[in-house]
Amino acid sequence: MGKGVRVMVPATTANLGAGFDCLGMALNLYNAFDFQLGTGGFDAAGEGEENLLANGGRLIYRGWEAAYAYRDQAAPSVGIRIDSRIPISRGLGSSATAIVAGLCAANYLGNLALDDNELLSLAAGIEGHPDNAAPALLGGLVVTAGGDDHHQGQGLHYIALDPPDNLQVVAAVPAFELSTARARSVLPKSVSYNDAVFNVGRAALFVAAWTAERWDLLGQAMEDRLHQPMRGALVPGLAQVLESAKAAGALGAALSGAGPSVIALTLEDQAAAVSEAMCSAFRHHGIDCKAIRTTPARQGAYLAD
Ligand code: HSE
Repeated sequence: MGKGVRVMVPATTANLGAGFDCLGMALNLYNAFDFQLGTGGFDAAGEGEENLLANGGRLIYRGWEAAYAYRDQAAPSVGIRIDSRIPISRGLGSSATAIVAGLCAANYLGNLALDDNELLSLAAGIEGHPDNAAPALLGGLVVTAGGDDHHQGQGLHYIALDPPDNLQVVAAVPAFELSTARARSVLPKSVSYNDAVFNVGRAALFVAAWTAERWDLLGQAMEDRLHQPMRGALVPGLAQVLESAKAAGALGAALSGAGPSVIALTLEDQAAAVSEAMCSAFRHHGIDCKAIRTTPARQGAYLAD
């Protein structure tokens, strides 16, 4: 049997309210991917196992092949197994973990010597937007700004900021799936100048508040007019879940990525109440829900022993 490697990649929460397609944060919840050269086949266990098996590891192989193609090499055959711990199609970046894992494994096993910049460009190019891929690869809170065509990974600018020690994240994960494509299909082709200005100020405020540890500003910084109001039609109870989080003491709350999960940032003392309040609000709308309590992750994708 050939060489193998295990790659760990964190869940991520994109947008954080106002930072549509440009802010994302890594969470301390990791998928584990095992790669074995000289073998073949795909196996999956854990969260979303059936869907992952039906899908055959498509995104992992896309990442794997893209890294070799970047070096003009044919990708060797590889066996892949995923230990899936991140709920799938819930706005917690499980697709990004697959792409990033394929890229990182190829980079290591193929001695391809791609740097973070190249890995991120490839990952964002496959995913279509960089806000999950960047924190999945780099860890922390990552600000990204794309090139002229932000759907390509080219010309991407980014900075990863370390998370503080005292913030917790509660994810309320409803019992239904929502694809990013569906959640993007309800967005308008254009937005008003006022709404654009509303979001630009808040996205900038979020990063400034993060850096200055001004947690009192997070609530306002996470308000959004560019995507959450439209996506409310696809996530029953969204407005009430957001309100209930804040009423229970969360610093701020937002739809996680394209949804349907909702995340709240909170201090430790409020985390239990916030988690309970968010899930009750979903249940009140007839949607079963589980809460994941975690923290922002400093560590992006890494190779495990
Ligand atoms: N920012 C994307 C969206 C999701 O809200 O559609 C994650 O890439």
